[in-house]
Amino acid sequence: MAGLKISRATKSFGDFDAVKDVSIEVKDGEFLAVLGPSGCGKTTLLRLVAGFEKLTSGEIHIGDRLVSGSQGSVPPEKRRVGIVFQNYALWPHMTVAQNVGYALKVAKVDKAEARRKVAEALALVNLEGLADRRPANLSGGQRQRVALARCLVAAPSLVLFDEPLANLDVHLRASMEDEFAAFHKRTGTTIVYITHDQAEAMALADRIAVMDGGRLAQLAAPRDLFREPASAMVASFIAQGMVLSAKALTAAEAGHARVEVLGQEVVVRCRPGERPREAAKICIRSSDLEIVGDKGGGFDGTVVRAIYKGGTARIEFAPASDADTHLHFDQSEPIGLDSGSAIRMRIKSGWLIPNEPAV
Ligand SMILES: Nc1ncnc2c1ncn2[C@@H]1O[C@H](COP(=O)(O)OP(=O)(O)OP(=O)(O)O)[C@@H](O)[C@H]1O
Ligand SMILES: [Mg+2]
Repeated sequence: MAGLKISRATKSFGDFDAVKDVSIEVKDGEFLAVLGPSGCGKTTLLRLVAGFEKLTSGEIHIGDRLVSGSQGSVPPEKRRVGIVFQNYALWPHMTVAQNVGYALKVAKVDKAEARRKVAEALALVNLEGLADRRPANLSGGQRQRVALARCLVAAPSLVLFDEPLANLDVHLRASMEDEFAAFHKRTGTTIVYITHDQAEAMALADRIAVMDGGRLAQLAAPRDLFREPASAMVASFIAQGMVLSAKALTAAEAGHARVEVLGQEVVVRCRPGERPREAAKICIRSSDLEIVGDKGGGFDGTVVRAIYKGGTARIEFAPASDADTHLHFDQSEPIGLDSGSAIRMRIKSGWLIPNEPAV
């Protein structure tokens, strides 16, 4: 296995920067997920690591080896990188074992050794019993595991996934997530995993890189990304955080600051030493909101929508002082709020979005 170091990587197509000045270090054995809106450069970044695209500037190291840089680029087949795409194209006329062993055959690996390697790769993805089946007779999840075995048979030092579960249904996704997690734990493979599914990223990854417009917006452990977003973009992108304008009342002290938001005073968490500006922004989650009685402080609002979700409802409401802002929280059964209901809410806590996003 090997770590990955992407240093100030930029990839331009004409005068458009698909990836812009991105630096990411993935430790040996780490599971890194990459999240971001469509078109933000995730696949391009992966293709740069795999060697299918050449860097415009910057460097990429796999382990200690410089694979992309100003001196040139190591071709994809010499990088020892395995790739699993969303569209895993298996050869329909070959059995599972033949699909997995194809690259070894092309490389003229000794037959007995190839058989052993194929068996090992199939064992890694729990497909030992299906070596002689053809792809048409497998489930979607099993096919995806054949694709994974096919990439593992070459003993890659790094495995890249580009939305590998996007074509599977919800139940299969969940069981494949478990399998990927188990696979990672068992093998300690260094993994870079692109997904659109935040829950999947949170469940699987040691750290998550959020990209926005070709740039790295934040690189952090799932919990830190959720609790301490580095910018308003990350705050609203991750788990639909609510971003509100606030006025700083006191300087930050011991990781907390007092702000005024929607006419209410709130003590919010912040970076140590953060100097909040007069015009600050905070991020709150639905669990930071509570319904209060008349004397409980807080602010008035009106319920805009109540969306029943089974056991809970998502309540969307607009504060009276700012009808254009929509906030939301979850209410469990019994759900006593309908569209048009007047409520009084209080913000219990929040996170002061830093002035200077530091990745
Ligand atoms: N070969 C190319 N020539 C020109 N532009 C390209 C090329 N490849 C990608 N782009 C552009 O670069 C940007 C990033 O594309 P990329 O495929 O990396 O996005 P992505 O984050 O993977 O999106 P998605 O989530 O939709 O898969 C897009 O605007 C895309 O149109
Ligand atoms: Mg993509």
